[in-house]
Amino acid sequence: RRRFNMGLAGALLVGGLGIPKGFANEKSEWDTLPTPPLLENESNEKGYVKYTLNVQQGMYEYFTGVKVPSLGYNGNILGPTLKAKKGDIVEIKVKNFLKEETTVHWHGMVVPGEMDGGPHQVVSPNGSEWTARFKVEQQAATLWYHPHGIGTTASQVYGGLGGLFIVEDENRLNLPNEYGVDDIPLVIQDKRFSQKGDLLYLTNMNDIMYGMLGNKVLVNGVIEPKKTIPRGKVRFRILNASNARSYNLKFNNKLPFVIIASDGGLLEKPIKVNDVLLSPGERVEIVADFSEFDEGSEILFGDRGYNFLTLKVGKKGKRYEIPTRLIDIDKISEKDVVRVREFVLSGLGHMVTINGKQFQMNRIDENTKIGTTEIWRVSVRMGMHGMMGGGRNSIIHNFHAHGVLFQVLKRNGRKPTGHEQGWKDTIALRNGDTVDLIMNFRKKGVFMYHCHILEHEDNGMMGQFLVS
Ligand code: C2O
Ligand code: CU
Repeated sequence: RRRFNMGLAGALLVGGLGIPKGFANEKSEWDTLPTPPLLENESNEKGYVKYTLNVQQGMYEYFTGVKVPSLGYNGNILGPTLKAKKGDIVEIKVKNFLKEETTVHWHGMVVPGEMDGGPHQVVSPNGSEWTARFKVEQQAATLWYHPHGIGTTASQVYGGLGGLFIVEDENRLNLPNEYGVDDIPLVIQDKRFSQKGDLLYLTNMNDIMYGMLGNKVLVNGVIEPKKTIPRGKVRFRILNASNARSYNLKFNNKLPFVIIASDGGLLEKPIKVNDVLLSPGERVEIVADFSEFDEGSEILFGDRGYNFLTLKVGKKGKRYEIPTRLIDIDKISEKDVVRVREFVLSGLGHMVTINGKQFQMNRIDENTKIGTTEIWRVSVRMGMHGMMGGGRNSIIHNFHAHGVLFQVLKRNGRKPTGHEQGWKDTIALRNGDTVDLIMNFRKKGVFMYHCHILEHEDNGMMGQFLVS
């Protein structure tokens, strides 16, 4: 019996986990991939965006005929897509109708600490409210929002809470931009189901050690969905909203594609690749060109032999020319660095630590001043755990910081490649990896840094820094 952190394909092939029968897609219907609805702006004042998010419980059918309890924002599962422009004042009222506390964190949005929605901005249960108000001051990007309570993040995200937050700006590049048509959001998550189709959570030791891994992959809340796409260039905004799984995403026919954006927005130029690695919390925007395919062709998308999204080429789409230069990214200067801070991630399960410590609500781990430029040197040192899963060429932890976007100076002594050449807020790490992240603090307050494997975060693989 395999015991540790088997790959996704492995998890599916090993007997006993079982693949539930009778899910919606077996009817081979087309277009089972839902597009998360855009939430309506309640304000008609220019430059002002107002939203309400109701955090609620519901029932949801992952498999036809099997209703299971679920969590969602303004619905049964996941949440609507929020949109705002650079320069907008955004006001979001969060109402918590759950029976437990929650928070709503704007992952990737650089806002003052008290608007961040981290563990300090608790929204009490049974109808209590919290209103976040901030100005969007960053470039166009695909961000997201999700719960961030102490010890409850993993179960609330797994239950269904999470949504996209798209920032737009004045940049008028000729990129696919018809939401849900040729600009398609893909929220990727894995979940474990029983033979009967019930949702399972934390059923074995591995779930606690490595974080919860599923036996099915869902996109936008639907297991292995299908979608008709235009015959032309299509942009996908991909979010890995999984609790613990990293994906090496590719098309089954080796179709190359370009990465145009990282966590924090557009890259300087499109990067042609055949696959892209995405750890939990990370986003990437890609553009693939389907114009050479016949109408009706089916192209599969997935990870290591498990294709969980089927695309069917439809009618000819709009014409887009992807420029060879997208934007200019001002490099944060190493000359301005006043300090190098080290963060060492280690352990598994309940033993996860950063710099040997576990999260404490009333302890600030790092202090800095607004306007300061620093290098954060983050590494993973698994010690004796290195043989268990971390010894493989796999993502064992990752690192996310609130309240700031960073640039990757070096990964293991080398210049970053792929989407790590753009603005980032989350970075994937293998055992033994060291990354140098350069950042400049623009917002005051108390912020979190942590592993975005949610069971690790909940087990205390998190610290706090104060920008004053
Ligand atoms: Cu996406 Cu601190 O989280
Ligand atoms: Cu971790």
